[in-house]
Amino acid sequence: MPKFEPILLANIDKPDSHTLKVYESTGGYRALKKVLAESTPAAFVETIKSSNLRGRGGAGFPTGLKWFFLPKDHPGPIYMCINADESEPGTFNNRILMEEDPHQVIEGIILSCFATRATTAYIYIRYEYPLSYDRLQAAIDECYAAGYLGKNILGKDFALDLYLHRGAAAYICGEETGLIESLEGKRAWPRIKPPFPAVEGVFRKPTVVNNIETACCVTQIAARGVEWFKSIGVPSDPKNPRDPGSYGPKLYCLSGHVNKPGCYEAPLGITCRELIDEYGGGVWKGRKAKAAIPGGISMGLMTEAELDTPLDFAGPGRVGCLGLGTAAVVVLDETVSMVDFLHNSCRFFAHESCGQCTPCREGTAWSLTMLSRIKAGKGRLRDLDLLLEIGDSIGIMPGTTICGLADGAAWPIKNAIRKFRGEFEEYIKRTNPTGYMVNDAVEALPILVGH
Ligand SMILES: Cc1cc2nc3c(=O)[nH]c(=O)nc-3n(C[C@H](O)[C@H](O)[C@H](O)COP(=O)(O)O)c2cc1C
Ligand code: SF4
Repeated sequence: MPKFEPILLANIDKPDSHTLKVYESTGGYRALKKVLAESTPAAFVETIKSSNLRGRGGAGFPTGLKWFFLPKDHPGPIYMCINADESEPGTFNNRILMEEDPHQVIEGIILSCFATRATTAYIYIRYEYPLSYDRLQAAIDECYAAGYLGKNILGKDFALDLYLHRGAAAYICGEETGLIESLEGKRAWPRIKPPFPAVEGVFRKPTVVNNIETACCVTQIAARGVEWFKSIGVPSDPKNPRDPGSYGPKLYCLSGHVNKPGCYEAPLGITCRELIDEYGGGVWKGRKAKAAIPGGISMGLMTEAELDTPLDFAGPGRVGCLGLGTAAVVVLDETVSMVDFLHNSCRFFAHESCGQCTPCREGTAWSLTMLSRIKAGKGRLRDLDLLLEIGDSIGIMPGTTICGLADGAAWPIKNAIRKFRGEFEEYIKRTNPTGYMVNDAVEALPILVGH
């Protein structure tokens, strides 16, 4: 069995772990009291900077640096938005933290607001999480009654109001500027950046957007210190001064074809194979793995031979994936058809594209049309290169779209076709024996688009 002692999930199995009484009995809010008594906002920003904590929401941006980018001496208000949209397929670690340990989340939010001088914080929570909503609201009410929220927190000249805001269930609401637009009451259309939220965010004021798990890491760094945090994970590369490393514990969501799916806490840098075998009890039904999604579907795909890749911020990129993402690992066993996998992935992104950018709107729709045609036995070998052309040309990375949803749509296409091309070719030849070499335009099967 794995030896790592969970920290972020330490309380979740205790009876009534979501209540203030139980949280305080395990040392909860002691870190907040200590920081408010002994530190200053600037000093606490430095603490988080020196911990090299990287955001857990997907992009892995250094949290302390994000806070540091806020304009100095801003007359206010400054806002904090906590991203609880959690719509990346396979991802459910935020939900567990909110349902079972909401005070750990709130303590991290209060500490983050103290550091950034934010006086209003919003938790933007997806609509499908009613229990998280209820538990967080109850915990917020307990905090106001106990003096952890409101005016003169713990007798200090520090005030904070914390609100829950329900989203209306769309993937794009998790993109930080889509979230901000939605919070302002508009359609969640991501904004062109710059300006970044740190300069112009909610209500055009300086804003920090951070993930729920990031807030919990802030709580634990305040409680246990920077040395403790940096004793876990993968150190930064001394030859690369720009590498912040991958420090701290991480919540990995494991699902798909494993014996024991679940949310597991492990040091950053555990390999995908260790996660599947040691935590997940191996691939189900005695089968072999064919592939795994390393961090939500938008990160692409690792082959079985790549499963020894460390799941830290740099690992998945070394085998051609987009990154660690949300660290949500989905295992595909040897019976899975890559055509079905990619069709499903394209269907998701075509449905979730907000439609603002032509390359994303058209690219996701056309890739679904082509995959639907291939799946229906009317594919051509030429379609594979057309799909790769779409994959290589949509997204922030090639510089053609406003947000990263299009990169997320592109990576499964690029990885599936480049890593499993033989399987796609065999399927096309088998299902369309007379037409697979055709170069002429073919009908688009409009009936399958959007299904
Ligand atoms: C399409 C899309 C969806 C996203 N969904 C989420 C999400 O559900 N939760 C989240 O925390 N971050 C999500 N992100 C990342 C956020 O834009 C942002 O980077 C993150 O909330 C910052 O928090 P962190 O620095 O603590 O990681 C998404 C990004 C994109 C492009
Ligand atoms: S990349 Fe796609 S989801 Fe993002 S803003 Fe453009 S159209 Fe919308």
